[in-house]
Amino acid sequence: MSLLILDTDPGVDDALALLYLRARNQQKWPDLKLLAITTVFGNADVETTTRNALWLRARLGLSAPVYRGAAEPLTRPRGLSPKHVHGENGLGDLDLSGAPLSPAGSGAAHERIIDLVRARPREITIVAIGPLTNLALALRAAPDVAGLVAGVTIMGGAFAAGNVTPFAEANIHNDPEAAAEVLAAPWPVTLVPLDATMSCVLTNAKAGELAQQGEAGRFAHDITRGYAKAYERLDGCVLHDVAALVSLTRPELFETRVAPVSVATSGERLGQTAWGEDGPAVSVRLRADGAALARHFRETVA
Ligand code: RIB
Ligand code: CA
Repeated sequence: MSLLILDTDPGVDDALALLYLRARNQQKWPDLKLLAITTVFGNADVETTTRNALWLRARLGLSAPVYRGAAEPLTRPRGLSPKHVHGENGLGDLDLSGAPLSPAGSGAAHERIIDLVRARPREITIVAIGPLTNLALALRAAPDVAGLVAGVTIMGGAFAAGNVTPFAEANIHNDPEAAAEVLAAPWPVTLVPLDATMSCVLTNAKAGELAQQGEAGRFAHDITRGYAKAYERLDGCVLHDVAALVSLTRPELFETRVAPVSVATSGERLGQTAWGEDGPAVSVRLRADGAALARHFRETVA
């Protein structure tokens, strides 16, 4: 059983990651336990991603508290929200009325990350599926956390081709300085870049089948209809953030290379990840069996 903090910018594929987490915390597969959800800007501003996290908590019946995190990157202004991908409300323009929302927990996300990790040394894995600002703030405020986590798993990076520029992936590009600090810190990092996630597609046909298979499948179908339009050429949508969680539960679905990773923090390659000369070794999930991963996702949530 892995104890997790999910650092997230919900986000349609972030919502699918929470749906997957909920299933992996049930009696049938008690392998992931969610301790807290921490939010960050990214797919929308942080007010919106925090509201979305609180809405998903209520909608999915999760008990983990939500803590609001960074509104801006460490050193540069926040970029525009990708409304063409995640909708005006960040959750595929799903109707968010109905569920009464509890307030976010008190304290900033990075402070709660520090408290939780210090309280359970070497037990907690941080799974980061948004920009890495909260993790960098936690490291700056408490460098000891690097030695106290069980691991850090990140959806982010691109070695071949980016998705927001030809070179860079969104989560890294949204705060490259934070990513550089996080990848240079002495903690055990697993990186799940676009090179692996782009093959992990929930096809429209399979989403249609899921919609007939109960509440969770209907939710996965409904929330991905707008998001799938952004991936029209794939006839489906990419399970980026789900792949980060599956790299914990089904590591055999990935090919992994272990090497230092650098992040470009200036120039036209801003946010690009590349193999580094020195620094801590990072486990990079360089390729995935995307068909098996997508099947595993469907079978888990259905
Ligand atoms: O590049 C894909 C990543 O950017 C995913 O985490 C998605 O949710 C967006 O944040
Ligand atoms: Ca995300």
